[in-house]
Amino acid sequence: MSAIHLDAVSVRLGDTDILHGVDLDLDARTVAVVGENGSGKSTFARLLGALTPASSGTVRVLGLDPVRQAAELRRRVAVVFSNPDAQIVLPTVAEDVAFSLRAEKPSRAEAAERVAHALERFGLTALAQHPSHDLSGGQKQLLALCGAFIREPELVIADEPTAYLDARNARRVADHLFAEEHGHRLVLVTHDLALAERCDTAVLFAGGRVAGVGSPAEIVAEYEASLRW
Ligand SMILES: Nc1ncnc2c1ncn2[C@@H]1O[C@H](COP(=O)(O)OP(=O)(O)OP(=O)(O)O)[C@@H](O)[C@H]1O
Ligand SMILES: [Mg+2]
Repeated sequence: MSAIHLDAVSVRLGDTDILHGVDLDLDARTVAVVGENGSGKSTFARLLGALTPASSGTVRVLGLDPVRQAAELRRRVAVVFSNPDAQIVLPTVAEDVAFSLRAEKPSRAEAAERVAHALERFGLTALAQHPSHDLSGGQKQLLALCGAFIREPELVIADEPTAYLDARNARRVADHLFAEEHGHRLVLVTHDLALAERCDTAVLFAGGRVAGVGSPAEIVAEYEASLRW
């Protein structure tokens, strides 16, 4: 089965249909999700991350049903958002990263080793004992990624992860998201069309529906054409 499979999926919140009749079958390693404000991208990301349930239809993420198998899905999937403040939980950088391992219950020694390694990977070693809330926005987003990746997720869902970052930090964050050596898959919601073009495939949302699926160059061109009126 493909990594992401949706069959006639709708999401209704209150009396509004946010997503309607979404059929998708995606198996590319990296998938860009583009579309105008309010087109349903974040709702789609939340649906894949088991944060919002489908109102009807079938959803499978890594072969799992996000409602019936939510716990397993959350173990294997990490979700990253744009607002790094909302993603920080504990007072210091090292504690915050270690908190991401809580479900795995590693020994103290194993946790310390994994945290040290993850901090190193994200360039945060020197900040290990720093108050997490005093970091810059870019450092906070690297901390959020560090907490996501320390769990070695099979799929990372990132909803506008570079929205508040300067060019250097956006590049750093993107390079971690696209890094191939850990074998994770990526679903990347973004308004940065150059970033979308780094993905293997792209999905265009419009008005809560899928308006196109294809190569990122094709989909970005289609999206840009739809904006020209
Ligand atoms: N909890 C909710 N209750 C009612 N409507 C909602 C809720 N969440 C989102 N919506 C509506 O659903 C639509 C899609 O929202 P969504 O956040 O998925 O869009 P988006 O494509 O991520 O937009 P943006 O690019 O601005 O982040 C919007 O019209 C939004 O107002
Ligand atoms: Mg959004």
